[in-house]
Amino acid sequence: MKKVGFIFDLDGVIVDTAKYHYLAWRKLANELGFEFTKEQNELFKGVSRKRCLEILLDIGSVEATQEQFDTWMVEKNVDYLAYIEKMDASEILPDVTRVLKFLKSKNIPIALGSASKNARPILEKVDLLPYFDSIVDGNNVTKAKPDPEVFLIAANNLGVEASSCVVFEDAVAGIQAANAASMVSIGIGDAHILSEANHNFNDFTEMSDDFLGSLIKK
Ligand code: G6P
Ligand code: MG
Repeated sequence: MKKVGFIFDLDGVIVDTAKYHYLAWRKLANELGFEFTKEQNELFKGVSRKRCLEILLDIGSVEATQEQFDTWMVEKNVDYLAYIEKMDASEILPDVTRVLKFLKSKNIPIALGSASKNARPILEKVDLLPYFDSIVDGNNVTKAKPDPEVFLIAANNLGVEASSCVVFEDAVAGIQAANAASMVSIGIGDAHILSEANHNFNDFTEMSDDFLGSLIKK
């Protein structure tokens, strides 16, 4: 049997931090004098902090000096971290822990592949850090999803061939990154939005141990 590895995105797959990102970006938008809607926040999924701010300023037609840009990046993150500080294990999305436990029981190596630079503290807050053999996050990559870099580094860290990795993702760019890495892509969320994924589930409660087992045996 070939050695397989599993790679999890963080925001929107393990925890619903999109709501905290939204609140922090909305506060900044309001301070700058414009509205930022939940629909617009969809554009931010899987997108780096820097790129999010560029999009936000475009939405508000705000011109920024480099100094202002850097200040707002910091300000948004300080506000976001205040929400993260209050997180605990109750915020883990349904059945994520069951899936992690199932994979661990089969000795499957597990990595995190996230664009977030806050991945490690979030995993610590929700007590999931011990499940991960490797954490690849926004601090380790030079190219953002849909570039496959984050997942290829994760596969390499796990010592597993890219084509033998399975990726769980909630962002279109993340599914594209997994596909570009020749990995099995599994969309978590709206199947219409994540139509490029190899498999789709609304959430982990829909994913049986039998299905996970079938991915391991490939
Ligand atoms: C994830 C989220 C994005 C977020 C990015 C960077 O990909 O889906 O919405 O912008 O991480 O997060 P950070 O915690 O570094 O600001
Ligand atoms: Mg995500």
